[in-house]
Amino acid sequence: MNREEIFNDSKKYTVFTWVAQEKFKPLVIEKAEGIYMWDYDGIRYMDLSSQLVNVNIGFNNENIIKAIQEQAAALPYIAPKHTYDKRAELGKIIIEEIAPPNMEKVLFTLGGADANEYAIRLAKAFTGKDKVFSKYESYHGSTYGAANLTGEAERSSPFPTISGFIKFQPPHLYTYDIQFSTEEEATKHFLSRLEYQIIMEGSDSIAALFIESVTGSNGTYLYPKGYLKGVRKLCDKYEIVMVCDEVMAGFLRCGEWFACQAEGIEPDIITFAKGVNSGYAPLGGVIINKKIADYFDVHALPSGLTYNSHALGVAAAIACIREYQRLDIKTNVQTLAGKFAQGMEKLKEKHLAIGDVRYIGLFGAIEFVTDREKHTSMLKGKDGKPFLSQMIANLYKFGLATFGHGATIMIAPPLIITEVQLEEMFGALEEALTFADEQL
Ligand SMILES: Cc1ncc(COP(=O)(O)O)c(C=O)c1O
Repeated sequence: MNREEIFNDSKKYTVFTWVAQEKFKPLVIEKAEGIYMWDYDGIRYMDLSSQLVNVNIGFNNENIIKAIQEQAAALPYIAPKHTYDKRAELGKIIIEEIAPPNMEKVLFTLGGADANEYAIRLAKAFTGKDKVFSKYESYHGSTYGAANLTGEAERSSPFPTISGFIKFQPPHLYTYDIQFSTEEEATKHFLSRLEYQIIMEGSDSIAALFIESVTGSNGTYLYPKGYLKGVRKLCDKYEIVMVCDEVMAGFLRCGEWFACQAEGIEPDIITFAKGVNSGYAPLGGVIINKKIADYFDVHALPSGLTYNSHALGVAAAIACIREYQRLDIKTNVQTLAGKFAQGMEKLKEKHLAIGDVRYIGLFGAIEFVTDREKHTSMLKGKDGKPFLSQMIANLYKFGLATFGHGATIMIAPPLIITEVQLEEMFGALEEALTFADEQL
């Protein structure tokens, strides 16, 4: 098929998510390698977002491809009530080499949304309680339960929202109307608001509190110092299951296997997906602590999916984790984090339309504003049309591919990126972001 046939038939016969179909123009991708992809006109794009912050190891990793091929030949699928060698192996790797020490078992799913669906179920069954807390400006997935966890203003769905899904104020200091003199002061403020809400909702009715260890697609917000630890304490105090959603922040994106480890906290449940196998096959999962695992030793888990622990996703994950270790990706992220931070700050210095840059490890966001003082988001361009889609299209012209949300774009390149490539990335961004200044 040539480019036009692929484009036309994709548009004619398939549905693209998140966009109205009519005017949407997808890139038609022919091949991808490392941190780059090429369209059918031979134009190369640097992957600034690791696709959806999942292709952490980059494209075309031979060892992962070989592992999938071997698994497909040996045993491509077996019902989840049976087991096989790779399921045992991956479970052991995650619990013994990767997860925080309090973690005991893993339940494998197909992606992040269903991992969160399961976490809701597990927490409700374990506690016998009903309500679930999550914060505004969060993303936890698009299936029914996960979408109800998701705290975005535009999350309205054609279905009735599920009762008992409660949202709390995010400690996003850049957009908050009160300015604090220290991070500690901010932490104290937001924790006391959260505790008030827990008490008012009835602490003995709250099963779980979900939080992204680093807020991802809503704009890479980091928490003020001590905030996550404080949330952990509140969850202990009121016997609420603390669930850290590490779907985007996990698997070395922030420099540790899980971002919550850098914060020194041990949640009761961790949900993961994406970077576990860098998107070479669908896989997600729920990691549970001993107390929850013990509960399910004597109570049946009241649900299942045909593809729990799918062999191709699992084989890809083992190979991907071994690649992270062989290539010492942890050191790469930790070493490049400083350069990444400098690059982001330099962009902010150069471009008046940048209101804020936020980052940790190789996970970052650039927020565009029409007024730096007032932090007014740049939602529209000079022509009155939505800014973000124009910005993304403009980035393509500079050979840069990413996605965004609101007035922010994601900067989260594959974790195999080298120092030279990082410089190339910031050089290209410096030119491309002039477009935002022109909208002022
Ligand atoms: C933090 C977080 N949780 C959950 C999800 C949902 O994952 P999936 O798209 O694999 O269902 C995402 C996806 O972007 C995410 O960023």
